[in-house]
Amino acid sequence: PGTAKAASDRFAFKQIPANTDDAVTVPDGYNVDVMVRWGDPLWSNGAEFDHATRGTAGSQATAFGDNIDGMEVYAIGDKMVLVANNEYTNRKIIWGNREEGKSANDDDVNKGKMAHGISIVEIRPENGKWTIVKDSQLNRRITPDTEMELTGPAAGHDLLKTAADPTGKKSMGTWNNCGNGSTPWGTYLTCEENFNGYFSAADENHEVSPELNRYGISSKDWGYGWAQVDERFDVSKHPNEPNRAGYVVEIDPRDPNSTPKKRTALGRFKHENAEAVVNNDGRVVVYMGDDERGEFLYRFVSDGVFAPGGPTEGLLNEGTISVAKFYPNGTGEWLELTPETTGMANKAEICVHTRQAGSAVGATTMDRPEWVTSNPNTAEIYCALTNNKNRGIKPNAGGDPTPVGGPNPREANNYGQIVRWRPKDGDHTSKDFTWDLFVLAGNPTVHQDANKGSDNVNADNMFNSPDGLKFDSNGILWIQTDGNYSNAEGFAGHGNNQMLAGDPVTGEIRRFLVGPKECEVTGMTWSPDLRTMFVGIQHPGERGESHWPEGGDAVPRSAVIAITRKDGGPMG
Ligand code: FEO
Ligand code: CA
Ligand code: CA
Ligand code: CA
Repeated sequence: PGTAKAASDRFAFKQIPANTDDAVTVPDGYNVDVMVRWGDPLWSNGAEFDHATRGTAGSQATAFGDNIDGMEVYAIGDKMVLVANNEYTNRKIIWGNREEGKSANDDDVNKGKMAHGISIVEIRPENGKWTIVKDSQLNRRITPDTEMELTGPAAGHDLLKTAADPTGKKSMGTWNNCGNGSTPWGTYLTCEENFNGYFSAADENHEVSPELNRYGISSKDWGYGWAQVDERFDVSKHPNEPNRAGYVVEIDPRDPNSTPKKRTALGRFKHENAEAVVNNDGRVVVYMGDDERGEFLYRFVSDGVFAPGGPTEGLLNEGTISVAKFYPNGTGEWLELTPETTGMANKAEICVHTRQAGSAVGATTMDRPEWVTSNPNTAEIYCALTNNKNRGIKPNAGGDPTPVGGPNPREANNYGQIVRWRPKDGDHTSKDFTWDLFVLAGNPTVHQDANKGSDNVNADNMFNSPDGLKFDSNGILWIQTDGNYSNAEGFAGHGNNQMLAGDPVTGEIRRFLVGPKECEVTGMTWSPDLRTMFVGIQHPGERGESHWPEGGDAVPRSAVIAITRKDGGPMG
């Protein structure tokens, strides 16, 4: 960590132009290697990925999962371990061996299910190239069928009791794990986002409760078909099953036999990621976004304080959750969610129906809060508000009106923005904060109005739909995009999805990487010496136009890439 350099020499690399190549492009002087791909076996008895069949449920269960999102590298003893989320699958790709019109069989559906969850794998550099270590004792797959413990205020509540677990204290598995976080005590936080899309009802006319409707659950799933192989995903038979999902889950990468813990105290919503910071007084503060049009930004503050080497179990179980209210004058405040402020019966209910609690106190509806990250050099938090294409047209089911204004300044928001806020007196537990926009994305070559973007956006660095956001330990803000890659009309010149570096002091933004066709660039972490940056390439070829990374006629595969500098220097 150090003082920011002047804009001209803040970054060690030269900006690269946008492009639409089916490749990962980085600046001169940098190397890119593909380290691990969807379907690569983590144990030597697993079959290598088969491009013809795209694997089976059995091969997938012991292989790296699909569509990589949030990730973290941990140094454990003398070993390095990558923990990565596998958010979802593209059924066209994973079931691509099926004849047109033929419905997926049970093995197809189970293969998709096993491609979800978390992949944990030891990694090491070998002959200058990062590689996975098959059969490491630390390797682990966590799937939608891995038993987990429900902890915190909602554990044991009636809303969490199901046929599978009448105690309401257990949960089967995790899925749609989007962004991540890491605790000060070295555990991994995985965040359950679009958990709703996996539930359906055998009876198409089944109507779900308003409580489930607010979370997007309906009688139809998004095509994954899990109820076909696992009855708990039939919401007409098991209406409390969706209440066991939508949490932040803590995983200990040091112990492959440990039971993951769902932390209900951090609320239930479509969690993007979880940014944990230790406040000056030792309390643990976790910032979190709910990625849905018109939903909210949250903050959790622990009751207890963190002491290195001390007990940690209670820190994410006991505390207060609040929701953000932004005012147009650049100030804002955190509104506590308590039985008194929300009218809800108890804390357990607030932790299950967190969206409704946020509505009850009048939180500010946002343009889809994606990743949140904390500046290591000062008390300042950034959040990507990715876009909001249908403000006022289609509000979130059961949600609040979404007026334009404050940190959501454009009526039709096709480009997104990054908001940042500073807690009063540098105290992350303070009720008050001030805010501004770090960047308003846009296209200055097409628009002259607000859609041209803020002053730090120009024809050479433009992008849309910021999503992944993370500070490195030197204080560079890395921005990843999940947006419109048509490279046409309002998006002309934006090219494929990309990764940029931002200077939090000067506001300068410089393009560092362009991903392959039809991908999203999401998830990043560094080796402890900052000399390797690991980045996730998600859903390349989601519309059929990519063969990355293998090229030729190969099936496109989500992968983690390792980026290094040819001169061995640190990233950025
Ligand atoms: Fe999984 Fe909101 O991105
Ligand atoms: Ca995202
Ligand atoms: Ca996104
Ligand atoms: Ca995504």
